[in-house]
Amino acid sequence: MVFYDKEGNKYSYNISKDSYFDRGRNAKVYKICDDECLKVLNRDPSNYFNEKVYDIIKYLSLDGLVKLGIPFYIDGKIKAYTMEYLEKTKISILDMPTEYTLDNLARLHKEMVILANNNIETFDLYYRNAIVGDSNIKLIDFDSFIINRDKDSALYHNIGSLLYVFQGLYKDALKNIGMDIENEMINNMTVKNYLSYLFGYTGYKEDPAKVLERKLVKTKTPRELFNI
Ligand SMILES: Nc1ncnc2c1ncn2[C@@H]1O[C@H](COP(=O)(O)OP(=O)(O)O)[C@@H](O)[C@H]1O
Ligand SMILES: [Mg+2]
Repeated sequence: MVFYDKEGNKYSYNISKDSYFDRGRNAKVYKICDDECLKVLNRDPSNYFNEKVYDIIKYLSLDGLVKLGIPFYIDGKIKAYTMEYLEKTKISILDMPTEYTLDNLARLHKEMVILANNNIETFDLYYRNAIVGDSNIKLIDFDSFIINRDKDSALYHNIGSLLYVFQGLYKDALKNIGMDIENEMINNMTVKNYLSYLFGYTGYKEDPAKVLERKLVKTKTPRELFNI
């Protein structure tokens, strides 16, 4: 595959169209070396992709967001970009120490504040756009993020979305170990409602990791909370 950057420099990658290791609704993702991958967008991204957002996120280079590389264009429109490759852990988030959840939530919360201060509002942020690694959780897929001039509204939205990501990660992990979240009960509520309670957000000013820490009541791992 051959791509061109903004200056017209040519980049050739020795990969075939079908050799992607993963895909989403909008793109296919290819490994180009040990620690880098290439995301190739498959439909016209001009109605959702915002180059300004891409540039700001790349410039901010936040620890909790995948590091972006070179953007490639066709006829002046973005077509693909390189980024750091993130390895997924084999351990369930439920078996990671509870601090893993809390530390990652605290770090990502700080970065949601930075994004909002730069007028960036997340979009399409859900658990599949978070990569759970051995040592940390990183977000990917900022293609539909938008510019919001109202920083408070961006922040409210960003924190709600971040908590939604964590809720989704827990939900997915529980389903993977066979839990029926709609019917099984915990603390007199369904597991599904319990997850909404854990990760719900109504606009409090406190760090969400501190709020969650009180709810997790000194468990060593999240699994202990669910009695499984
Ligand atoms: N940098 C990356 N490192 C590892 N896996 C990735 C990376 N980027 C994407 N993926 C995998 O590819 C999938 C699709 O990528 P994504 O950027 O979410 O595409 P889409 O815009 O189509 O949703 C992701 O859900 C993830 O599993
Ligand atoms: Mg995605």
